[in-house]
Amino acid sequence: MTQELWDAVDGYYSGLLVGEDAALDAALEASDAAGLPQIAVSPNQGKLLNLIARTRGVRRILEVGTLGGYSTIWLARALPADGRLITLEYEPKHAEVARANLARAGLADRTEVRVGAALDTLPTLEGPFDLVFIDADKPNNPGYLRWALRLTRPGSVIIVDNVVRGGRVADPDNTDPAVLGTRELADLLAAEPTVDATMIQTVGAKGYDGFAYALVTG
Ligand code: SAH
Ligand code: DHB
Ligand code: MG
Repeated sequence: MTQELWDAVDGYYSGLLVGEDAALDAALEASDAAGLPQIAVSPNQGKLLNLIARTRGVRRILEVGTLGGYSTIWLARALPADGRLITLEYEPKHAEVARANLARAGLADRTEVRVGAALDTLPTLEGPFDLVFIDADKPNNPGYLRWALRLTRPGSVIIVDNVVRGGRVADPDNTDPAVLGTRELADLLAAEPTVDATMIQTVGAKGYDGFAYALVTG
């Protein structure tokens, strides 16, 4: 199995089930033009986030890690007209690109990009959120999960991107801060009685990776 094959299958299915989308395509183009890293969720992953949010009928969404707002657009599109999404971003330049992309997508009225280190901005938020998508700096994932648990309620969903990153996460001797952050996240999910979770491995346009899906139960 190769990256080439994963790309082909991802492209085949996104061609059928996502297709061309002016606002999303423009968001990626503007992000590239501004020199942002090409690490947004893939089209099929973004669609999954959108479908989960719609399935849950979510009205309030929190995202940690905005980049150019590609995943933000997918999530915000799931909201009803009076729904609200707050997304947290450290880099002012990323936030500026994201705001323009959200405005172009017609989502400025229900989205807010807050600039700062998420561990500084999270304490200023008021919950509860129905869905939290964590996708920022991986070493801080344990802290982000703790805040997500505080800012949610039973029935809320917490999704964390990039929990596999090539598989290094299964090596207990790995000392990469991103791997340590992910392993501590997994330990917290396992130990916390108010949440039930799984970790799903994925392959696709973004290589071999995975996401955590957690349901707040209490
Ligand atoms: N969710 C986006 C991708 C996010 S990439 C998408 O799929 O489209 C990760 C983002 O987290 C980057 O923009 C990076 O600047 C931001 N980030 C890194 N450290 C952060 C921190 N401490 N607080 C908030 N955002 C941070
Ligand atoms: C990186 C970050 C991400 O959120 C992602 O989905 C892929 C890669 C990175 O920092 O390299
Ligand atoms: Mg990610």
